[in-house]
Amino acid sequence: VQIPLHLDPRAPQPLQAQLFDQLREFVLDGRLAPGMRLPSTRELAAALSIARNTVMAVYERLGAEGYVEARHGAGAFVSTTLPESALRGLRREPVPIDARRDDYAGPFRGERPSVYRPRSAANRIDFRVGKPDARMFPIRAWRQIAALSLRRARDELTQYNDPGGLPRLRDAVARHLRIARGIRADPTQVIIVAGVQAALNVIARLLLQPGARVVTESPTYEGAARAFSSYGARLVPVPVDGHGLIAGKLPRTGAALAYVTPSHQFPLGATLILERRLELLAWAEHTGAYVVEDDYDSDFRYESAPLTALQGLDRGERVLYTSTFSKSLGAGLRLGYVVVPPHLVEVATTVKALLDNGHPWLEQAILAEFIERGHFEHHLRRLRKACMLRRDALRNAILEHFPGSRVTGFEGGMHLVWQLPNDGADATTLQGAGARAGVGVYPLAQAHAHLYGNPTPYARTLALGYAALSEGEIRSGIRALARARG
Ligand SMILES: Cc1ncc(COP(=O)(O)O)c(C=O)c1O
Repeated sequence: VQIPLHLDPRAPQPLQAQLFDQLREFVLDGRLAPGMRLPSTRELAAALSIARNTVMAVYERLGAEGYVEARHGAGAFVSTTLPESALRGLRREPVPIDARRDDYAGPFRGERPSVYRPRSAANRIDFRVGKPDARMFPIRAWRQIAALSLRRARDELTQYNDPGGLPRLRDAVARHLRIARGIRADPTQVIIVAGVQAALNVIARLLLQPGARVVTESPTYEGAARAFSSYGARLVPVPVDGHGLIAGKLPRTGAALAYVTPSHQFPLGATLILERRLELLAWAEHTGAYVVEDDYDSDFRYESAPLTALQGLDRGERVLYTSTFSKSLGAGLRLGYVVVPPHLVEVATTVKALLDNGHPWLEQAILAEFIERGHFEHHLRRLRKACMLRRDALRNAILEHFPGSRVTGFEGGMHLVWQLPNDGADATTLQGAGARAGVGVYPLAQAHAHLYGNPTPYARTLALGYAALSEGEIRSGIRALARARG
């Protein structure tokens, strides 16, 4: 047989590996058919001008992996036992998944196949929502504690640990939540996960059947809407106003859960008033639905103390509370938690174990020590102070340079909502002008918001994050934006 082999002595891959890969490819794509005799090692070595030992080693490995079989005295033959269906020439080419095709029946039906990816910092000044300031990350303490944690590590790095999380961290989180959020939970109810996103996946696996109805605020957080949809849930929008979710509009029956952001409605920024909190909890008790409370940015509250979390008011064990360190420390850490009611602890821990056998140990150990030593509280105080000044700088700059605008949703969190006046540019036009000046601003639809397919009411609404920018950067960004708009 003439086999078109090409070995390159200058390639980084050794000759032996090149020859192995090429012969294996020929077997897999059927060009070397089952039962076909391979050239003798002597012939092939001579044809390729390489050492016979090299060819012998390759044949041996092809034999060991099952691609060829040696027949005593007769040489090497392509294996006849490879399943025909495995031979590539006979297989169908893979087709990329396109959720917009009619024959696609998977969970993302009809959606654009988009996922979050880190975006390049194309803009000099970027008001992206939800981003903390890398310059304020407590890197010195973190580095020191990381080294200490590794020095102290024993079996934790080599064994499976509790899938619910590191007990020290669960203790520290439970203590923090009791004081900061009025949450009543035993540390065993706290399950450490890779951020709110992972918590939503655990919750969906725990509580949703395909076709289940999931209530969300409208508009809501895209990451939640898409996660629930991906489990086959049907989303039921309930409108929000300046006091948060309009609880009176909750569906009377049939919902498996309601996903809400009571501290700082995402994306519009309202705080859910007490009366509606109680109404929502009563609804959950009467209908048997669960409530998922996403408290993603409640560490940031400026003028007033935050309202007690829904979880702290819940007497019926209906609330699953989740929050994250993505805002207070950084999203790259992938650290968050979900607090489940006592009757769900066992099954939630099992779901978590099925997903990944528990969160990585080292980050948990560092964070536990960081909180225990009081660094976290100190860091939060510092951040809150900085963020409040940044928020004020942004609000003032908008009102100064864009008179007639309305700014809302700024009592807490790390972003505010900017309603442009009716007689000027809309949000997309302003974004285009900003991009030309190197300033990133985001219409609501591009700020991780899910608008239930109806962007029109928000054509003049933007959501701007301010936590990652200094006051100077904020002022100069809005000034540049006003100039670029013309
Ligand atoms: C409403 C809401 N929930 C949760 C998160 C954070 O998610 P994670 O903890 O997965 O980083 C964000 C981040 O932007 C958010 O806006």
